Formats: sequence, structure tokens, C-alpha cells
Amino acid sequence: MFVHPSSHAFEPFKYTTLEDLKNELKRLSIPLPISSFTENLSEAIQSKHLIIPNRLSIQPMEGFDANLNGSPSDLTFRRYKRYAKGGVGLIWFEATAISEDCRSNDHQLVLSEDNVNDFKQLTSLIRDQCDRNLELLGFKNRCCLILQLNHSGRYSKRNGNKYPIRAYHSDELDSAISVKRKDGVIISDDELKEIEEIWVRKAILAKESGFDGVDIKACHGYLISELLSSFHRENSKYGGYSLENRSKLFLDIVTQLQNKFRKDSDFLITSRVGVYDGIPYPTGFGVKSIVNDNFPASIDLEEPVELINKLYDLDVKLINITAGNPHYKGHITRPYDVPVKGGKLPKEHPLFSAYRIIYLTSVIKSLVPHDMIIVGSGYSYFRQFAGNLASGVIQKGMVDICGFGRMSFANPEFAKQIFQGKTIDKTKSCISCSKCSQFMREGKSTGCAVRDPEYRNKE
Ligand SMILES: Cc1cc2nc3c(=O)[nH]c(=O)nc-3n(C[C@H](O)[C@H](O)[C@H](O)COP(=O)(O)O)c2cc1C
Repeated sequence: MFVHPSSHAFEPFKYTTLEDLKNELKRLSIPLPISSFTENLSEAIQSKHLIIPNRLSIQPMEGFDANLNGSPSDLTFRRYKRYAKGGVGLIWFEATAISEDCRSNDHQLVLSEDNVNDFKQLTSLIRDQCDRNLELLGFKNRCCLILQLNHSGRYSKRNGNKYPIRAYHSDELDSAISVKRKDGVIISDDELKEIEEIWVRKAILAKESGFDGVDIKACHGYLISELLSSFHRENSKYGGYSLENRSKLFLDIVTQLQNKFRKDSDFLITSRVGVYDGIPYPTGFGVKSIVNDNFPASIDLEEPVELINKLYDLDVKLINITAGNPHYKGHITRPYDVPVKGGKLPKEHPLFSAYRIIYLTSVIKSLVPHDMIIVGSGYSYFRQFAGNLASGVIQKGMVDICGFGRMSFANPEFAKQIFQGKTIDKTKSCISCSKCSQFMREGKSTGCAVRDPEYRNKE
């Protein structure tokens, strides 16, 4: 049972020792396990053919630094080379558009028949460097590279202008990104069917590009994620009361891909799934169907669990769990101390926001078959103590692998620091200042304005 402690008001991160952090968690009655040891993070994990060398991962982080044809630029290569040196066993590549007309930024990566060789160069270099570094750190298994494929849906842009491609109308979601009903479109069922075919084609290209697997992105309010909550999409095979309809595009893509790759079981079909949007019914997924509920809405994981179990039946053995719609309210997805410009501080304590996402992931972990490998999100907020938390939650069986987003921008060698020194370097840590999100909002290339000289003075 998850109880929202309304009395726990916002306070920024101020803990200088592990004891300070533990005491604050105790004061807030947040049952997060913090371990003094981190050795378990170097253990490999296996499900069937898939072996991941250790328990730390880079989460997908859009860099918006691709060339205009969608291929990786020098800056993209730079980001991934930094990750490859860092010692993680799993690099989850950022949201890559399935076509140019569903990008959220003109400089988003797009995988196409024309630039597949550029992606091949990227994966081959990153795999070499990552494997070499893993070997130096004493790991026996090879790194795993996953590509996230996405349709930006409501958050698409064309020629730099917002062009929402919606599953359904929501004035609330429109106003969160300052668009009007007349802007953009509601996508038709025929167009969704076309998207299914494009997605499958691009997933096949991801394999050709040298990735170990492909993520059919289903989170953060983008197209597939929005469809999961399209209760009020009318006269459509993809909307309405039944989860079967709302998950149709998602599961049709996965089914087609599993049929295609069945003979070649080494290539992974996976997904980053948003299990709780936080937005009240009927606009959110993973929420109770209470009319007039408040944000953050009451949690109901029945449908997300059903969906993930269906994915398991379709042979999906690796899942990345996240929550929230960062375009609506960011703290559910990425707890912070400072909001983006013009944004508000949340009404809840950020340690509580961080706990929510870890709790949601642990519930999923406990209700799906044990050999489904679960990657968890939202650890960067814990800064130099994140390794101690990761170790604790893995020890308790709440998750299998801990993924780091903003920390990877700030301090891509966080994993190496844990493996070598047992703790993340405080002076290099993410400080949850939202500057990387601010870059994103402004349509700029993203990175850490505090820790990475490449992005300093770019604000
Ligand atoms: C600048 C920026 C870009 C992001 N890009 C992606 C992305 O491409 N795909 C995705 O699933 N999540 C993306 N996210 C969300 C992160 O992967 C992650 O879930 C979030 O930052 C919380 O994890 P953290 O606390 O480790 O940062 C992005 C977040 C930020 C701040």
C-alpha cells in the first residue's frame, strides 16, 4: 500500500553523509534500503541468452545533437564514447525517431535506410570501447546495447514548430505545452496501422545497425504511451475501455517483431514502459478510475502488470520501468531540486518522488515472472549515495538493474567509480538542477551545464 504523505513538504538535498540520508528517510517514513556495501552491483544477470555483465545502466537521454538527416554527429559520438568508458553493462541509447515527421527536435536521431551505416559505425565503436573497459574492470561478459525507437506523438515538432500528433484531445495536456486544439491532429486508425509497419521496419534496421535489441518506447506521454490512456478515443480500434484496444499498436509491433526474429532469438525486443503517468483518469495510465481525482493521481497498477505479463508471454525478457509525463509535471519522472525556468517546485519532498518510482518498479518486479529482467529509473537524485541505494534495492529484490539518466550526462564514469572506489564522486555528481531539461525545452543540444565543459556557458 502506497500512502502519500501530504505533510512532507519540499526540501532540497542537504545530506553530507550516508547517515544523514538514512535519518531523513527514517524521518519521512520512506522505506528505502541503503547499503554500505556495493559489491552486488558487479554481479552479472542472465535471462535465457541475455547476459548483462553488471547491475548498472545508462538510461536513454536525448542529446538532440544529430545531423539533420538523423545520423549521429561528432557530438553524439562524444556522448556515447563517454558512456562506453564508464563501466556500465547496459547502454540504453536515446529516443530515436522512427521517421523525420515524428521527431521532437530537428536534431533528434532518426534511423533510416540512408543512414544505417552511420549507426553501424556508432555501435561498433561503442561496443569495442565498452567491452574493452568492462574487461579492464574485470567483467567477463560483453556490454549490451539497446536502441530506443520512438514516435513523439503529442510532442512532435515540424520545422521547429510544435505539431502535436495526438491519440485524443486533452486541453490539460495541450495547455502544458502551450498548444491549442486547432494545432496539429488526432492521428487516425489507418495512420496508426502505417506507423506499425514503419516501426517494424526500423526495428529490423536497428538489428542491422549492430544493436543487441530494440526498445518500443511506451512512456512519458509519447505516442504509444498516450494510446495506453486513450480511454476517450472514440470509434477506434486503438482506444476505449479495453486495455486490448489501448495497447493494440504496442503489442502488434512486438508481435510482428517476435514473429520476424523468432529464429534469431539473440536479438531482444524490449520496451521502456511508463507504468504510472500520475495524471488523473481518464488522461493517465496506471491510475485509479476516479473522476475528479487530484494530481498525482491514486496509483492502480493492475493494467500495467497485465500489460507487462502479456509482453512476457510475447517473449520480452527485459523491461525498463519509468513513470510520469515530464512534459506535464517533471518531478514524477525526475525528482529535482530546481525546476526548469518558469516551472514550480513540487508540493512533495523529492525523496518521496524518488521513492514513488522505485516503489512502483518494485511492485511490478514482484508481480511479473522472476526471469523478466527489470531496469529501474530515477536514481540520479541520490548523487554520491546512488550506488548505496542501488545496492540496497537490488539486494532486496526490488529491481535487477539500476539505470542512470542525468548522472550519465554529469558523470558518465559513475559505475567505474562505484566498482573501483565503492562510491560515486560527489564533486562530479548530478545536482538535479534541471539545466539539461532546460536545454531540451529550448530545443538545444542537451548535456550537463554544471559538470561537462562542453555544455558550460551554453545556457
Ligand atoms: C535531457 C533529458 C533527456 C531525456 N531523454 C530521454 C529519452 O531519450 N528517452 C527516455 O526514455 N527518457 C529520457 N529521459 C528521462 C531519463 O531517461 C530518466 O528517466 C530521468 O532523467 C530520471 O532518471 P535520473 O534520475 O537518473 O535522471 C530524459 C531526461 C532528460 C533530463
